[in-house]
Amino acid sequence: MKKLIAGNWKMNTDLSQGSELISSITDKIQANKELQDNCDFLVCPPFVYLSSIKGVASGAQDCSSHKSGAYTGEISASMIKDCGGSYVILGHSERRSYHGESSAVVSDKAKAAHEAGLIAIICVGESENQRDQGQEQTVVGGQLLGSIPDTATAQNTVIAYEPVWAIGTGKTASPKDVADMHSFIRSKLNGLIEGSEKVRILYGGSMKPENAGELLAIPNVDGGLIGGASLNADAFIEIGLAAWAN
Ligand code: PGA
Repeated sequence: MKKLIAGNWKMNTDLSQGSELISSITDKIQANKELQDNCDFLVCPPFVYLSSIKGVASGAQDCSSHKSGAYTGEISASMIKDCGGSYVILGHSERRSYHGESSAVVSDKAKAAHEAGLIAIICVGESENQRDQGQEQTVVGGQLLGSIPDTATAQNTVIAYEPVWAIGTGKTASPKDVADMHSFIRSKLNGLIEGSEKVRILYGGSMKPENAGELLAIPNVDGGLIGGASLNADAFIEIGLAAWAN
């Protein structure tokens, strides 16, 4: 499966930093035909910069579960599409924890995304405490079951496994833990999504050029969801290079 290297800019950059970053990323991708053939790149900036992203696939970091109407401050999936976005990240742990998003909410948002023709990247992952108590598969299994709507297909859905304790901390899960969890997720998807073997499962949590090669070589790791390192064009592209070097 072609790896997907997805950058989650979170609430970072300003307009000029963002445009510099994107032109540097697209220049580097366009200069390397082999890289384009071997990896798909995606950039998810803050909403307001979405329409300025050209030359690489783009997506948003959240969307409303509603189509339109009196929902002050919300952005619909079709608006993301209008601004050139083709993906939306949903259920990121920062949204689950700071905005109280339950899996039921994530599922409604993913359904709205699918209906608007977007690909939903549905994030799941356990906390450190849950892993210490050996509950990681129960937690992730429950999140998958609750967050994937019946509109999901292998084409319109990507899963991102992001252990909460590895996000932005510099800690990564061990290759064995990643392998076990990705294989567990693959088996859980069977029954939830038709053609589940074709669903991309990304790893996220402190992925950087130094560890990307090892992580992306693990079976069932079909790409990365990258936060901090996606704000540096060289680091982001090097992760892409590591993806097909294996
Ligand atoms: P990180 O973030 O790469 O900075 O750990 C990943 C994410 O939150 O998607």
